[in-house]
Amino acid sequence: MAAHRPADPGAENIVFDPHDPAFVSEGVPFATLARIREEQPVLRTPDGAWYLSRFDDVTAALTDVDTFRADLGPITGIAAGIEAIPEDQHYLSEIPEPRHKQVRRLVTAALSTARLRRIEPGLRAECARLVDAMLALAVADLHDGYAMAIPAYAMSRIMALDDDAARRFMAWSWDGTLMRRPSTPGVPPGGPDSHAFFAAYLAGQRALPTPSNDLVALLLDAEIEGARLSDPEIVTQLHFLIQAGVHTTRSLLAHLFNRLVQDPALWTRLKAERALVPVFIEESLRRDSPVQRTTRRCARDAVVRGVPILAGEWVEMGIGSANHDEAVYDAPGAFRLDRPEPRRHLAFGAGSHVCPGAGLARLEAQIAVETLLDRVARMERIEGVAYPPLPGSLGHQPIPARLLAG
Ligand code: HEM
Repeated sequence: MAAHRPADPGAENIVFDPHDPAFVSEGVPFATLARIREEQPVLRTPDGAWYLSRFDDVTAALTDVDTFRADLGPITGIAAGIEAIPEDQHYLSEIPEPRHKQVRRLVTAALSTARLRRIEPGLRAECARLVDAMLALAVADLHDGYAMAIPAYAMSRIMALDDDAARRFMAWSWDGTLMRRPSTPGVPPGGPDSHAFFAAYLAGQRALPTPSNDLVALLLDAEIEGARLSDPEIVTQLHFLIQAGVHTTRSLLAHLFNRLVQDPALWTRLKAERALVPVFIEESLRRDSPVQRTTRRCARDAVVRGVPILAGEWVEMGIGSANHDEAVYDAPGAFRLDRPEPRRHLAFGAGSHVCPGAGLARLEAQIAVETLLDRVARMERIEGVAYPPLPGSLGHQPIPARLLAG
């Protein structure tokens, strides 16, 4: 591992836009990120935000929630941020303490180990069904036919909902519904389709003498400081669970399958050494982080590595860059199954907002990869196809392959 040199405050600003859509089609510019970590670890971006690039700085800022407050306003089309969004539309990440912890407790209950265990057999059966359907095709698409379908199925079952809900979750992940709130400009008064769906479902459950859906029952019964959650609040958190859990896991799965198609030696090794599957998943999360950055708003003046960051300024947490920090990882761009601490990465964030769905995402990835290894003898690339870059984070890109039964 290489220690960083002190940054040069007089150096010319490196031009880097963390929102550049080209990262999906052309790949993350890791060489530029390496330069940023070395020369300007706290970088001014073209739109006037700050970009933190080093592992230590990103970890410290993610953990310091009193200074750096999560604000997903801009990614939901609301540039002014949470100040412009009614409180009952604040996603879990955006709720200040102590209420955040209290609402988060409900989300972690929804994603408890016992609930994961309950959905596991169905998830295995669904993965087997999807792989068999792909085996029947001359050319399968591991994105549409597998990576898209699994998280939507898993979330539908976590919510004790059916296949119709899974189909809706998949569609909303495609068409942008998940990135809108009722207060997003241009959204009709009932909110995006996801809000209308959950609101109607909730009303149906309320009309029953006892709710038939145990997750809904948990949310309806919950009291925080003596008060129940309102329906709009519950709908917001259900929508957010889909937003947070479907896109991201689809992206992880797409990265795993893309790499397996492109690296036959890795495929052969995993077939022979199944114990390496969890390590394969962790190294993908680190090397090809599905969430490359997350946004914070500075709540009070701060200084990071000598750079003043003022209250009100936007700060991007460079998770993808931190996971390539050469001060923490040897040869960070290499994909290796022998790293000393495979789970040492920030792919799921850090601190009090660390991803409560990490266990579910890992379970989906484990079962999806195991099912492929069990049922498929070989996966062949299709000649002449340009495969998506790794990572192609959060991009919907086909991964065509010829699957041969084993
Ligand atoms: C590979 C898949 C996933 C990745 C890479 C991922 C990544 C992350 C990251 C980086 C954060 C922290 C964001 C921040 O601090 O701004 C986060 C938070 C969150 N994630 Fe995930 N996530 C994944 C899957 C899931 C799943 C499956 C669910 C739920 C079903 C989920 C639900 C959430 C929620 C609710 C939060 C907010 C937690 C809080 O603010 O307290 N995630 N995730």
